[in-house]
Parts: sequence; structure tokens; C-alpha cells
Amino acid sequence: MSSVLRSYKGIFPTVGERVYLDPSSVLVGDITLGDDASIWPLVAARGDVNHIRIGQRSNIQDGSVLHVTHKNKENPEGYPLLIGDDVTVGHKVMLHGCTIGNKVLVGMGAIVLDGAIIEDEVMVGAGSLVPPGKRLESGFLYVGSPVKQARPLKEAERAFLQKSSDNYVVTKNEYIAELEG
Ligand SMILES: CC(C)(COP(=O)(O)OP(=O)(O)OC[C@H]1O[C@@H](n2cnc3c(N)ncnc32)[C@H](O)[C@@H]1OP(=O)(O)O)[C@@H](O)C(=O)NCCC(=O)NCCS
Repeated sequence: MSSVLRSYKGIFPTVGERVYLDPSSVLVGDITLGDDASIWPLVAARGDVNHIRIGQRSNIQDGSVLHVTHKNKENPEGYPLLIGDDVTVGHKVMLHGCTIGNKVLVGMGAIVLDGAIIEDEVMVGAGSLVPPGKRLESGFLYVGSPVKQARPLKEAERAFLQKSSDNYVVTKNEYIAELEG
């Protein structure tokens, strides 16, 4: 795992229990991963100029890129990247310095920019762009570039937010078993 987890300025990622880290992923610096989280092939996450937090059971799918913005005089906190629990981040998503609540699905290929806030239980459609500082309200589907509120989530979709996370916990356990041979 040494090439997967790398230090920056002496800080190594902190990894919870039963986390799956694909051997082709790269996680650098101040990153915390909650229990049962999973990081899929070719994910690149750099917690160098600010920190990254990924909650329990959240999954970051293949080819996604996670980064942050440094602190400066105008913006003393900079923009860390904060991801809640039970979040599904689809394939090839770009998350940059944003805050994501619990039970969110970020559709494949979406881009979420600095200071954007995605509240709990939101779906972001595939290929969407969430502009800097935009807040997405809990309970809604957002699509488009830039995103617009499309409609309230259906009950089945709300249930799917948890289901998607649960499915990934099962799958990552199978991958861990495979790696351990
Ligand atoms: C948005 C989504 C949830 C579908 O919602 P829906 O309400 O069932 O949408 P529909 O398929 O009925 O389409 C409704 C309209 O939205 C459009 N639309 C659908 N998905 C869209 C998207 N991602 N971005 C922009 N527009 C979209 C359709 O073209 C249609 O437009 P029209 O009314 O002008 O014809 C789905 O397309 C999506 O993006 N899911 C994300 C899946 C994903 O990435 N999962 C990640 C885990 S692998």
C-alpha cells in the first residue's frame, strides 16, 4: 500500500477500519477516510494544500479526482474537501474544495467547484457542473451545466441513495477478500 498512501510534509492519510483502497489509486497527505469507505481504480486524491475528509461507507469511483484550495489572506480557511457518510461519487467525477453532506449521489463525470455545498440527500445528474459557492438544497435532483434544480427526489431515489452506499460496502468487501487471497 505504500505507493497508494503517500505523505506530504510528513502527513500521511489516516484510514479507518475495513477501507478498500484500490492498488492503482493515489492518496497524498492530509486525508481521512471513515470506516468501510472505498476508493476505486485510478482515483487521485491530493490533500496537500488543504485537507480532505471522506466519511463512513462513502465510495469514490474509478478515475475521480479530488483536490483542495490553499489558505490565503483573503480566504483564511481555503477550501478543504469534505465528503459525508454514505456518499456515492460516480466514475470520473472532479471534486474540488467543496462540501458534500450525507447520502448524496454525484453522477458520473460531474464537476463540483470550490465552496459549493451539497446538502444531505441530493442527486447530481451525470455530467453536471456545480459552480463555485453554489448550495444544492436537500431532497432535490440537480442536473445540467451549470446545475439547475430539476425536481424533488422520488421516494425510490431517496432510498437508492442509501442502497447505493450499501451495495458498494458489499462489493468492496469482496475486493478486500480477493486482495487478501
Ligand atoms: C438525471 C437522472 C437521475 C435521470 O433523471 P430522470 O428524471 O429520470 O430523467 P429522464 O431520463 O426522465 O429525463 C428527463 C430530462 O432530463 C434530461 N436529463 C437526464 N439526465 C440528465 C443529465 N445527467 N444531465 C442533463 N439532463 C439530463 C433528459 O434528457 C430529459 O430531457 P428532456 O425532458 O428535455 O427530454 C440520470 O440521467 C442521471 O444522470 N443519473 C446519474 C447516474 C450516475 O451517474 N450514477 C453514478 C453511479 S455509477
